[in-house]
Amino acid sequence: MRPARLLALPLAATVALSALAWAQSTVVPVPDPPPVRTVLLEVDLKGTHAGDPVRGKARAAACTACHGPEGRPADPQYPQLAGQHERYLARQLALYAGGERAGGALADTMRPFSETLSPQDMRDVGAWFAGRRPATGVADELTITEGLYAGRKLHEIGQQLYHDGDAARGLPACAACHGPTGAGNPGPPWPRVAGQSPDYSARRLHEYRDGRIWYRDRHAFDTMAQVAAPLTDVEIAALASYLEGLHPRGDDPAPAR
Ligand code: HEC
Ligand code: HEC
Repeated sequence: MRPARLLALPLAATVALSALAWAQSTVVPVPDPPPVRTVLLEVDLKGTHAGDPVRGKARAAACTACHGPEGRPADPQYPQLAGQHERYLARQLALYAGGERAGGALADTMRPFSETLSPQDMRDVGAWFAGRRPATGVADELTITEGLYAGRKLHEIGQQLYHDGDAARGLPACAACHGPTGAGNPGPPWPRVAGQSPDYSARRLHEYRDGRIWYRDRHAFDTMAQVAAPLTDVEIAALASYLEGLHPRGDDPAPAR
């Protein structure tokens, strides 16, 4: 369709089209990776199969109070689950239930809800949230007044670090793993970070940098801990703000089922 025609479409039709694009982008299953991990999670997902969103929907009712209707929370201390990848969600639920994602009051709040789920429930509930449309926010216009970044807007600093990293300090571009639009990758699985609550993203980055969570299976945690090591507090705030404002695109990778 030529851009001129697209512009002429009534708004409702454009919204319907983008909803269709989202629906279409959620149906491609990604095959499970071969079992190469040597460290088993306390709660084992090995015998599970791709999540069933219909079964997951019934289990997800218990999550609404904190994570919001369809995984879009109103309170920024809770992470958005809408549009997050199924296998990432299931793995985090297994980590909470096994006591491996622990070490803070908020992780302790989450743990009892993970314990009510069987390993297959974790994948089902993951599939349900993976198929919900994520909300997006607006990045912070705040201008930094002192230090290295004086005179620059918070989200501009975040944008630069996200896309370019800082080779001199060994900081890789976040986009290399989380993608140019922050949609992540359902295969490895690398989480979606776009549209995430900035309070939550900042807290996670602090936890990685300061090594405040310890998983038995350290691989994914250590990847992010190494990335976050050189970040300053201002840079964490800037990245969290930028992530909130990142928007999905039609060609983002489809969540795995
Ligand atoms: C009482 C509030 C509450 C309820 C109810 C709740 N959660 Fe959570 N959830 C939290 C909090 C707080 C966190 C962040 C914890 C942390 O920082 O580790 C969280 C984190 C998570 C995460 C990790 C997200 C990420 O991006 O890594 C997943 C997955 C999750 N919850 C799934 C669920 C599911 C599924 C249910 C329902 C069965 C549920 N939660 C019910 C409070 C809640
Ligand atoms: C080499 C790949 C890689 C790079 C580069 C990378 N990440 Fe990550 N990121 C991961 C993985 C893997 C996880 C999941 C870790 C886990 O399970 O705890 C993750 C998790 C996260 C989370 C937590 C998501 C959630 O829902 O809890 C945030 C926030 C995040 N990354 C932000 C960033 C930012 C900002 C950068 C750039 C400064 C970055 N990442 C660079 C691989 C990467």
